Amino acid sequence: MIIDGNRMIMSAIGKLFGLYLAVSVEFQMYAADRQMGAGQEWTWITESGNGLNRAFVLRKSLDCGTNLSRAILRHTGLGVYEITVNGLRVGDVELKPGFTSPMVRESHVDDVTTLLKVGEKNVIEVEVSDSYWRDLIAGDPKRVGRRPNAVALSLRMEYQDGRVETVDSAPDWEVVSVHRLRGAGIYEGEEYAANVSQDRSGWRPARIVHPDVRVIPAKGVVRMRKDLVMSAKVPFTVCPGEKRVVDFGQNAAGRESFTVKGAAGTRLEIRHAEVLNPDGTCYFGNLRRAKATTVYTLGGNGPESFRPLHTYYGFRYVEISASAPVEFSEFKFEPITSVRNETGRIVTSDPDVNRIISCAEWAIRSNQMSVPTDCCQRGERLGWMGDACVSVPAACWLWDTQEFYLGKVARDQRVLQHADGRYCSLSPGRSGETGNDKYGICGWSDAGVLIPYRVCAHFGDFKIASEHYPSMRKYGLWLEEKGGPFPGVWGDWLSFQRTGFGDMRYPYGSDSDTQRFLAAAFRVWDFSALVAFASALGEQEDAARFTAAREAARTELHKTYFGEDGRLLREYAAQTTYAMALVLDLCPGARSRAATLADLELNIIRCGRRLMTGVIGTQFLLEALSENGKVQLAYDLLLRRACPSWLYMVDHGATTTWERWDGIFSDGSFNDPKMNSFNHADFACVLDWMYRTMAGIRPGPVKGGFDDFELVPRPDRRIRMVEASYRIPKGMIRVKSEYTLDGKWTYRFTVPDGTSATVRLPGVEPFRAGPGDHIRVL
Ligand code: BGC
Repeated sequence: MIIDGNRMIMSAIGKLFGLYLAVSVEFQMYAADRQMGAGQEWTWITESGNGLNRAFVLRKSLDCGTNLSRAILRHTGLGVYEITVNGLRVGDVELKPGFTSPMVRESHVDDVTTLLKVGEKNVIEVEVSDSYWRDLIAGDPKRVGRRPNAVALSLRMEYQDGRVETVDSAPDWEVVSVHRLRGAGIYEGEEYAANVSQDRSGWRPARIVHPDVRVIPAKGVVRMRKDLVMSAKVPFTVCPGEKRVVDFGQNAAGRESFTVKGAAGTRLEIRHAEVLNPDGTCYFGNLRRAKATTVYTLGGNGPESFRPLHTYYGFRYVEISASAPVEFSEFKFEPITSVRNETGRIVTSDPDVNRIISCAEWAIRSNQMSVPTDCCQRGERLGWMGDACVSVPAACWLWDTQEFYLGKVARDQRVLQHADGRYCSLSPGRSGETGNDKYGICGWSDAGVLIPYRVCAHFGDFKIASEHYPSMRKYGLWLEEKGGPFPGVWGDWLSFQRTGFGDMRYPYGSDSDTQRFLAAAFRVWDFSALVAFASALGEQEDAARFTAAREAARTELHKTYFGEDGRLLREYAAQTTYAMALVLDLCPGARSRAATLADLELNIIRCGRRLMTGVIGTQFLLEALSENGKVQLAYDLLLRRACPSWLYMVDHGATTTWERWDGIFSDGSFNDPKMNSFNHADFACVLDWMYRTMAGIRPGPVKGGFDDFELVPRPDRRIRMVEASYRIPKGMIRVKSEYTLDGKWTYRFTVPDGTSATVRLPGVEPFRAGPGDHIRVL
């Protein structure tokens, strides 16, 4: 996050207090968790030195009897680790144990039966690095640098005769610190020296440590997406002095894998970039302090293959240099993500619109990395909850998000929840960055309630968030008592409204009037969510209480922000405030709604038919228009090419949605390198509008979910055909909206068995449709 001058002064005081508060919150939470019972006992082992090595390897030799029936390995770690049994990788989860707050560790379970050699000696090896635990992403090195890395493992071998043997991590494991993995960090990258002898002499007994952590089962884990792997054209050579640029054609999060041949001791450096400079070289300016570099030293024994496993990068291009000639016979980009089991697909007859869709999908995939990250390339990659909340509806079309958001994300939010009920804007936070100034902030902290709300509304079941309800209730009570959320400093982050082009008075956020309105609007939205949860969970008293709070907040908002004539007061005039008022039903009556819509339209026209919204407002804008009869204007914004717009990004080479509308200026130069990610999922929110409006698929209006869903397409002749499918547990919803050559519009749709739909076509009385294939021609 970048903050300007006056914010820095404000936050300096906040930080002193915040530092204290962050520690105390972490401590309180941990103490509370411990009372809940920490579960299985783990023995943590580390290298035997002073705990300051950047990476090390632990190993254990063990016998395995002949009549083994099953072997299960449980493991967790402080720092990213990789386990092999007899040289073969255990499991397919990347970046274990996962990104969580430091006081919580995720545990994993793998069946290793087939990796063990029965009746023989077996070797388990674990490589442990700093990543996520004491590297730069974990926080200030002064705070985190002395934490020891460690792992805890437990192998259970079950035999056919009923015998059970266990091998746990213990001091009889051996450790070596001079080995091939030289070091790794999430921002730094990974260094690996394949020329270091395999016979690593100097193995010593491991040392036991007692970290103050609670171990919980892993959720929302990261895996490599084999179906999305991209290959570079091979073979190619790289000679000393050369900087070879490889273009994968797609920006994404992941890492490279390669097979290379060259002399022993040759040093390869592979740097990662999202975009190119005009001269065709890689642009690294926006990576902040992320070195984002793989350093690999060749072993020199014929073709050798490597992929870094302790880090990841956000990139489309790599720049390869080598200290001696090398030849690559394979070079691939392996995307990694928590996104799996994709459920939705949407495609149109317009190649440009398809590129927006693809940008949005890839930005979502790239930024679900054990936590929803803001970006995946620069020295940040953190769980900024405001961004996460904005992209939830779009993400829910792309994949089955329940475990990720309700399991992992909500659990992380609870860990950092303040004792007074406020959620943190970051989750998990980087140590030292979860100060008081990050708590209770409008749009970001509200995500503690609104992420689960949006997920549950999509899937039509508010009970699935029952585990999180006590925590959300606590936030509700804080809102009630303190009048929160606070406007904070971010507001409609990165909007153009009021700032105009080139006016840097509000270079990142929005003005304070807009921010006050946003806080009031989020307050109403939060209470609406709480009412939905309380009612579904049978918490009648809470439901009544939060209903009253919502109505009071709404009345207050009407009094403060709307004039007698029903219009939003002039100082609050912005596309974002109008759009939020319309979509969140915040206008005092029908006359006010009509006036707000008219003002929104006028604002857009006066701005040259441009959208001016930022991170918060964009998610509401198109819906505010298309749901209120301004379908064509919504499509105008979608199809606009000049900045700010989605097609402006596409025209400037985007393959993922950018952080800023003007990440690249029209003269080809780059915006402020300190904050210019080319892979942020916030503006991917448009994907939700595409499913709901262009394709028309929507969860049922009353209960949500898809047992009884809605089809409400709003087509526009400029996009001749839209085809979408969405997989639900009962089958596949399919739609195809198409203008035919005779000028007619055809809507084909499939309602899966066991479900029904209410169909609302333009200018036609709504009708019900049961399972089967249907077609309507208008
Ligand atoms: C992030 C944003 C985030 C913000 C909070 C930025 O640096 O990339 O997406 O929400 O900080 O201000």
